[in-house]
Amino acid sequence: MSDITLFPQPQTIHRASGNFTLDAHARVFSSDGAPGEMLANYLRRATGFDLPVHPLDDDIAADATNAILLVPSADLVAAEAYKLDVRPERVTLGAGGRKGFLHAIQTLRQLMPPQILADAPQDDVAWLIPCLRISDEPAFGWRGLHLDVGRHMFPVDFIKKFIDTMAFYKFNTFHWHLTEDQGWRLEIKKYPRLTEVGAYRAQTQIPTDPNQWDGEPYGGYYTQDQAREIVAYAQERGITIVPEIELPGHSLAALAAYPELGCAGSDYQVRTTWGIDPNIYCAGNDAVFTFLQDVFEEALAIFPSEYIHIGGDEAPKERWAACPKCQARIKAEGLADEHELQSWFIRQIESWLNERGRRLVGWDEILEGGLAPNATVMSWRGSDGGIAAANAGHDAVMTPTTYCYLDYYQHEDWTREPPAIARTLTLDQVWQFEVVPEQIAPDKRHHILGGQGNIWTEYIPDSRQVEYMAFPRAIAIADILWNQPKEQSYQALVERLRAHLPCLDMMGVNYRRLDE
Ligand code: ACM
Ligand code: ZN
Repeated sequence: MSDITLFPQPQTIHRASGNFTLDAHARVFSSDGAPGEMLANYLRRATGFDLPVHPLDDDIAADATNAILLVPSADLVAAEAYKLDVRPERVTLGAGGRKGFLHAIQTLRQLMPPQILADAPQDDVAWLIPCLRISDEPAFGWRGLHLDVGRHMFPVDFIKKFIDTMAFYKFNTFHWHLTEDQGWRLEIKKYPRLTEVGAYRAQTQIPTDPNQWDGEPYGGYYTQDQAREIVAYAQERGITIVPEIELPGHSLAALAAYPELGCAGSDYQVRTTWGIDPNIYCAGNDAVFTFLQDVFEEALAIFPSEYIHIGGDEAPKERWAACPKCQARIKAEGLADEHELQSWFIRQIESWLNERGRRLVGWDEILEGGLAPNATVMSWRGSDGGIAAANAGHDAVMTPTTYCYLDYYQHEDWTREPPAIARTLTLDQVWQFEVVPEQIAPDKRHHILGGQGNIWTEYIPDSRQVEYMAFPRAIAIADILWNQPKEQSYQALVERLRAHLPCLDMMGVNYRRLDE
């Protein structure tokens, strides 16, 4: 199998001799509900072949040659499991359901010459697929990438392209960070000022000189129709979008739109500086909860995801300490301090979400002052939050800065790289990511749902830079989350990537070149 490079690497792969050759007469046979048309479309683009899709009729399909078959496989019970059997006369994809078939399709694409990833017909390519058998399923159920569209935003078409690239690597969760101090990016019909006012900042800090601003207004937002279109696009590709609406902090853009929601009640501007803002939603004002429920009500109607991210990170407590309404809430609810007030705040939102059949996920600060009863913790300040959550019987998703922050520099020598946030995370360091730390008791390890790479965009002004920061580091994360390839050396990873990166070139994805 040394001539075959796949990301993520399948659990088991048995190489056989020979190849299947896709030619102009090949046919696709697809069982009801399987994504046969999607597979054919992927293959038509670069080959120019017709590739008609027929229903999977047992009589015909059993003897079909020069064919690709999508066959239900009752023995594959895990939702994302699949099998792939390539023989000279036919290719058979097996899965228990649609998600498994989608993964089988991506594996098949990666097995073909990289030109198959082009979006226009390619001449003179022998479309060979090596004969083999693969049996595969993921180690973790949460395999995510996060994208902050608050600091900078990116066009709908790019979000779709990013989702396509995620699907190629069998990610299944896109964590869409939609609200920030520097910009509110989701249309909320009941509160139009969130986007009229909150989506625009007066200017932006210059990356190379934080003491200077560019003087250019910046902003924009996604309409609900656009968000729905993106959700449907992702769903079709097996990816769930987890929306993040931040509370109680990182909410200055919302306060600029509706100042009555803050403790001070006036003089808020959408933030033009990176960092953490002291102004957060007032916890003593009932109108804040009405507002948030209204916002979440519209968000839930757009995003079918079971998990809803509520942020929860980096909420300074100084305004609450000085606010009579917040102090009155602390007294009325018998809380010890502002940390317990934050915990109380989150519990209000959690019970509201739970009543609507959704689950709350938040950054690890939601542990402070006591975790909401059903909350899932996203561990970012190292792995400790995830360890504490899991040991306490809560689910957790691991996104520690030490392995998963894709906004950090990719090389120790920052002068070689475009401006980034002042931290380093090399590919080599990413490859050390241990999703389930040893400090978690063996009977609690199942609480680690998986992990994700995070892309904060203070220093990422455009789509090409998103890709440059994401890849290839996100590919390593995809590999780790799929199969925990512990035994593989960094050098082996680099060699596999060297063989694989032409795929990104064919897909027009910008990425950081490997170090020589
Ligand atoms: C975070 O990076 N503030 C979650
Ligand atoms: Zn207050």
